[in-house]
Amino acid sequence: MDIAVIGSNMVDLITYTNRLPEAGETLEAPDFALGCGGKGANQAVAAAKLGASVMMVGKVGDDLFAPGTLANLQQQGVDTRYVTSAPGTSSGVAPIFVDDQSQNRILIIKGANQRLKPADIDAAADALRACQLIILQLEVPLETVYYAIDFAREAGIKVILNPAPAVNDLDMAYACKCDFFMPNETELAILTGMPVASDEQVRLAGQSLLQQGLKNLVITLGQRGALWLQGDESHHVPSLTVNAVDTSGAGDAFIGCFAQRLVATGDVAAAMQSAVAYAACSVTGRGTQSSYPDADTFQRFLNVH
Ligand code: RIB
Ligand code: NA
Repeated sequence: MDIAVIGSNMVDLITYTNRLPEAGETLEAPDFALGCGGKGANQAVAAAKLGASVMMVGKVGDDLFAPGTLANLQQQGVDTRYVTSAPGTSSGVAPIFVDDQSQNRILIIKGANQRLKPADIDAAADALRACQLIILQLEVPLETVYYAIDFAREAGIKVILNPAPAVNDLDMAYACKCDFFMPNETELAILTGMPVASDEQVRLAGQSLLQQGLKNLVITLGQRGALWLQGDESHHVPSLTVNAVDTSGAGDAFIGCFAQRLVATGDVAAAMQSAVAYAACSVTGRGTQSSYPDADTFQRFLNVH
């Protein structure tokens, strides 16, 4: 295996609406879609669609959503041997609201994802040791994330930590053990308490975080592309101009593509360049995983952008 994602599966319940209802108001929304999501699964699927061999370690509930979630992962080529069902729980779900500016607002109910424990990493240890890269996010218990980081370090496996969704009690000592720490601008603001409205502010906030001892900091900036900071060096990749219809899961598209390219080439700057384009392509389609192109479709997108 190239890549292991230890993380979440969610069922995305996406409502397309012009605005959100006020308290006590019933409002008709024009459209709805059910999709497979969860930051972990999204990143796994993006990497697999681009040709990486990917395994996932995760939990689904024992409800109607569980078989569909597993079937989807398998159909996308993700190894699900270590995605197990947690009895008596509901699967993770994410009610998502996309407005007419294509901005998204996401609620998450972690459900079964909360049951992913260090013992699940032990159970998958042999398979994990055969991977080159482990990707982690924060939709499973922090205890499990920290355990996975120590496991990877001992096994000599590279780690990407995507601190999403943002928490303000993340132990930065663990972040510093990872090879890549990859927040978006909102997560950067929460982690540092610093403003991130301008490129200069992002750079200053990034540098203050980097000074805590991070190896590589890659900040995803939506329409402004992505910024990589390492030591005194910085590298910015601007985004492409596209017609955005749904930005949900664009950050996960970036990370999945970045991981696939990193494993394939070892070239961080080139991986960022591809990942920015892959995320841009994803925002032109509705939903999260449903908008991630496979390698051929992505190549056609690159040919015209
Ligand atoms: O990052 C986007 C994802 O966040 C969605 O797929 C949703 O499930 C939430 O986990
Ligand atoms: Na999308």
